[in-house]
Amino acid sequence: MTKILLASASALVLGTAASAQVVGFSQIGSESGWRAAETTVTQQEAEARGIDLQFSDAQQKQENQIAAVRSFVAQGVDAILLAPVVATGWDAVLEEAKEAEIPVVLLDRMVDSDPSLYLTAVGSDLVHEGEVAGQWLAEQVGEEPCRVVELQGTTGSSPAIDRAQGFRNGIEGHANIEIVQSQTGDFTRAQGKTVMEAFLQAENGGADICALYAHNDDMAVGAIQAIKEAGLKPGEDILVVSIDAVPDIFQAMAAGEANATVELTPNMAGPAFDALQAYWDNGTEPEKFIQTESKLYTQADDPQGEYDRRKGLGY
Ligand code: AHR
Repeated sequence: MTKILLASASALVLGTAASAQVVGFSQIGSESGWRAAETTVTQQEAEARGIDLQFSDAQQKQENQIAAVRSFVAQGVDAILLAPVVATGWDAVLEEAKEAEIPVVLLDRMVDSDPSLYLTAVGSDLVHEGEVAGQWLAEQVGEEPCRVVELQGTTGSSPAIDRAQGFRNGIEGHANIEIVQSQTGDFTRAQGKTVMEAFLQAENGGADICALYAHNDDMAVGAIQAIKEAGLKPGEDILVVSIDAVPDIFQAMAAGEANATVELTPNMAGPAFDALQAYWDNGTEPEKFIQTESKLYTQADDPQGEYDRRKGLGY
């Protein structure tokens, strides 16, 4: 009896052993297959670790995310995961979390706030992703002239800013490659299609377009539909390169309708929870940026097999 009492008393003193850690997750929304997979993986990772995950869907609105973070702070959660829709405007709410001593981990997108306002950020090198896409295209076209249309991600988001810059770095020195149209498709399939229709119209029905660079696969998939409806062959008449590596783009690659994608893992939560656990256990401060891998896939990389491997993973 005495032993049991002592055991529960020490669990109370240590604090963490007795009850699950509560983590608030402010997710952007569900604009893409990749985003849906990130949500699923985060929920699975939390469950596997016995973490109580409080999920909030901001439906693409920064004000909803700020309200969610404030409510997590008021609730006194043990940590906050934040996938920030845009890069600016986070200082005040991050300061509130810091004052409340609640560690914040950024997932997949960056903010322009001082790094002291968050514990760490888990994500890929977004500039590098764009560079890989640009270099792939430069290799494909060689010396041939190539007019490129670009579907950008959500305006003001770090992947839209960095993937645009990276692609331009990747084609630097290749004067034959020119970006002739560039517009946001907000990372959605529907807007990717609509904007691509406008590009096709502006570019001689698509005859003047050599390649499409889309900041994510969902916009590329929408654009592929528009290209087909315009009577052209995506993947042949217009090369298609994008980012994410979701199952649908592998299906398009297997059908010869897309050419290349740069992988972004949806498992940002695994490294985030590892960093949080070490922080909770003994105050270990992680690196300010935990980088995930970016791998290029082309039609030569068994796209059907990649589709089969990924299709059940929550995309
Ligand atoms: O921040 C990552 C990007 O956001 C993904 O590439 C895109 O699909 C998502 O919406």
